[in-house]
Amino acid sequence: MKRLGKVLLIMSILISSIVINLNPVALADQDKTWDKIKERGELRVGLSADYAPMEFERNVKGKTEYAGVDIDLAKKIAKDNHLKLKIVNMSFDSLLGALKTGKIDIIISGMTTTPERKKEVDFSDSYMKTKNVMVVKKDDLNKYKEIKDFNNKKISAQKGTDQEKIAQNEIENASITSLSRLPDVILALKSGKVEGAVVEKPVAEAYLKQNPKLDISKAKFNDEEKDTVIAVPKNSPELLANVNKSIKDVKDKGLIDKYLTHAAQDMEDNGNFFTKYGTFFLKGIKVTVLISLIGVALGSILGAVVALMKLSRFKILSWIATIYIEVLRGTPMLVQVFIVFFGITAALGLDISALICGTIALVINSSAYIAEIIRAGINAVDKGQMEASRSLGLSYSQTMKTVIMPQAIKNILPALGNEFVTLIKESSIVSTIGVSEIMFNAQVVQGNSFDPFTPLLVAAALYFVLTFVLTRIMAVIEGRLSASD
Ligand code: ARG
Repeated sequence: MKRLGKVLLIMSILISSIVINLNPVALADQDKTWDKIKERGELRVGLSADYAPMEFERNVKGKTEYAGVDIDLAKKIAKDNHLKLKIVNMSFDSLLGALKTGKIDIIISGMTTTPERKKEVDFSDSYMKTKNVMVVKKDDLNKYKEIKDFNNKKISAQKGTDQEKIAQNEIENASITSLSRLPDVILALKSGKVEGAVVEKPVAEAYLKQNPKLDISKAKFNDEEKDTVIAVPKNSPELLANVNKSIKDVKDKGLIDKYLTHAAQDMEDNGNFFTKYGTFFLKGIKVTVLISLIGVALGSILGAVVALMKLSRFKILSWIATIYIEVLRGTPMLVQVFIVFFGITAALGLDISALICGTIALVINSSAYIAEIIRAGINAVDKGQMEASRSLGLSYSQTMKTVIMPQAIKNILPALGNEFVTLIKESSIVSTIGVSEIMFNAQVVQGNSFDPFTPLLVAAALYFVLTFVLTRIMAVIEGRLSASD
């Protein structure tokens, strides 16, 4: 009992020190933001590339390219300051967190000034002004004449955006569906889940071009025109000054209009769905298979260690293993992914890519499940065998290695195959931090094609083919194994 107390004490000290370290304000040396950027020689711009004409992805001869007003602006800022540009694409509602934990240096993502955000970050001068509109189905155009006609109705908006706030503030009793990505906001409307979608005007116009059944409602919001700005971390005066210098130049030379024309050209469509977007899906398959494979492989090694710890005669080891397994199985994978992604950078001050963070999260998560699979596999081997081989003079570890494990592995293999199948599907969660696996690329295609539905069908088909083929292969292997009995 005393020992358990000690273990718990040490664990809680460890956890609280991690939590303290996670506090980005305590950690980030924000006066040094600009020095760090200069030293790196690279400006990392965060955005959510689902927002034509501001930022979107397009396919140029099978390769993805970012395009839009914000991209041109980012290029200009980088060039003006002799920096390389790195675009970091993630969901809009993750951007502020990424900025505060130092994953990105600035946000250029069609962001509007709001008092809440002002508390968290600093804003540049304005480079554009926009208004919000309500997008509805063309058939409903005459049904809604004023905003109050939307009272008590279902409305969609992008999560974490000002549009979400406006829907809350201006429409009485609206039930609001907040979705992370703009294509989903439009899809909700198209598929009749909501009656209207609150969208910024230029963006609404871009989407209307590809969705002829939708239109902008005559109903007008009270909310006045708002400034679109760049967000920088608090207390980084030099960075802010340099950003503002480029913005001033852009305004003096009237470049925003040029950027808008450029964006409109880039939005033009050519070729069919598969010639245009096939490469996105192929790339996605590669990444999904890769991270799931690493997930089971490394997860098995880590899982084996945890399983042996849990079976160990040393109580402390088995407690630690139990806690590890229970915590990982008792918390959502989505939360684990975010903790690894934002936690590692903040706690250790390392800059690790989303791909690696996502893979680490998959390995850790699967190791907990695999540990239980392995433990059950070992336990399923008849107890008498341990006693028999020990009495024949084999040591504990010799018995484990030569007698128990070979039989356990046979028990374990089919369950490991299932874990692989599960991981292929679950790995879609790392799309939230920007790992370009199948789901992420499907979302990219949604944004590029302004078609919210087809990319989802393709993604579903790809996951199905992968898991189906894998299950067949596993069945064959299992058949062979049982034949060898
Ligand atoms: N202007 C809105 C806001 O700041 C929405 C911006 C969304 N941007 C994006 N790239 N999806 O809240």
